[in-house]
Amino acid sequence: MLPQSFLLVVAFAASAQASPVVAAGPAITPPPSALLAKRSTCTFSGSKGAASASASQKDCATIVLSSVAVPSGTTLDLSDLEDGTHVIFEGVTTFGYEEWDGPLLQIEGTDITIECANGGYIDAKGALWWDGEGGSGGKTKPKFFYAHDLTNSAINNFYVLNTPIQAISISGASGLTITNMTINNEAGNSLGKNTDGFDIGESSNVIITDSNVYNQDDCVAVNSGTSITVENTVCSGGHGLSIGSVGGRDDNTVETVKFLNNEVKNSVNGIRIKATEGDTGSITGVTYSGITLSDISGYGILIEQNYDGGDLDGGTPTSGIPITDLTIENISGSDAVESSGYNIVIVCGSDACSDWTWSDVTVTGGKSYGSCTNVPSGISC
Ligand SMILES: *[C@@H]1O[C@H](CO)[C@@H](O)[C@H](O)[C@H]1NC(C)=O
Ligand SMILES: *[C@@H]1O[C@H](CO)[C@@H](O)[C@H](O)[C@H]1NC(C)=O
Repeated sequence: MLPQSFLLVVAFAASAQASPVVAAGPAITPPPSALLAKRSTCTFSGSKGAASASASQKDCATIVLSSVAVPSGTTLDLSDLEDGTHVIFEGVTTFGYEEWDGPLLQIEGTDITIECANGGYIDAKGALWWDGEGGSGGKTKPKFFYAHDLTNSAINNFYVLNTPIQAISISGASGLTITNMTINNEAGNSLGKNTDGFDIGESSNVIITDSNVYNQDDCVAVNSGTSITVENTVCSGGHGLSIGSVGGRDDNTVETVKFLNNEVKNSVNGIRIKATEGDTGSITGVTYSGITLSDISGYGILIEQNYDGGDLDGGTPTSGIPITDLTIENISGSDAVESSGYNIVIVCGSDACSDWTWSDVTVTGGKSYGSCTNVPSGISC
């Protein structure tokens, strides 16, 4: 019988031809332990790698994507994985140019582990699409990664450079831990609009930790979901740590979201909670604790119940999406807001903001906002 190490050698030698390799058990009647080898390590590479990986995904316990060049207008689609599959990006993964909606990458499953190998990263080549218009016009830009319907799964050490538009969409997740992810859209500083880092909805038990987002829109935006934690993460260049916008979607409930020990710098906003005007839903149990702010141009802290597509666009705040049990504590933002910006803005509907804990909040440098409304007692705005 062939030793396991031989099967692995075959798998790696054959990968040079960019064809999937599924190591089969030996031809003799295998003992039960050999049956486990049926799903083995498969390595895919080059311009046919994405299609081959997609076609063979159920046969592989480990999928190594080695310098895969995904053809334009197609998705690297691993949405039908067996439970427990390990997906590894090795070398540089690239995508061809085409105007379409994407996504460029889609992965779904249970007990899935996704990671970049040492030195591996994804180059989504966003500069080819960036035209300063984001999702509002110009070129149609593909979304980057639908991390949808992942259950008890993990994404580790994942590095993506230059997404055309939104980076990571997390939806339908139940138990997803993201550790040490970098989304680097720093090069899009002038033209890479709407490059949201993490958009999260309809998900539970999501943890994002030790990550870095350099972008030009929300660093993290939670639209709905339960038990979501973002910690030890750095946000730079974007629109800060956001709840919302909440309202007008299928799911408009946000419950138990914690932003802990994060840094927001060179951004339009630090902390922002947006409830849309005239809609219903609820935002409860949100905590921002240990947030360090610097170089904020617009709003240090902005909490609004009149969101209508733009911040403080003048509508009357409404009460259909109450913000309750909110904790904002240990916020270090001394001289953090530019002089043209506002330190703290709170515009609540009548009786729509209650049970807030607000302690050790220092946000200075910008203007005071004179028109805060329905602010819970004990909080100065
Ligand atoms: C974090 O991920 C990067 C790749 O993005 C890797 O180079 C680095 O070693 C990882 N850090 C740790 C602590 O694993
Ligand atoms: C306040 O936040 C800072 C920055 O994250 C952290 O280092 C510190 O431990 C926090 N202090 C308390 C009392 O939680």
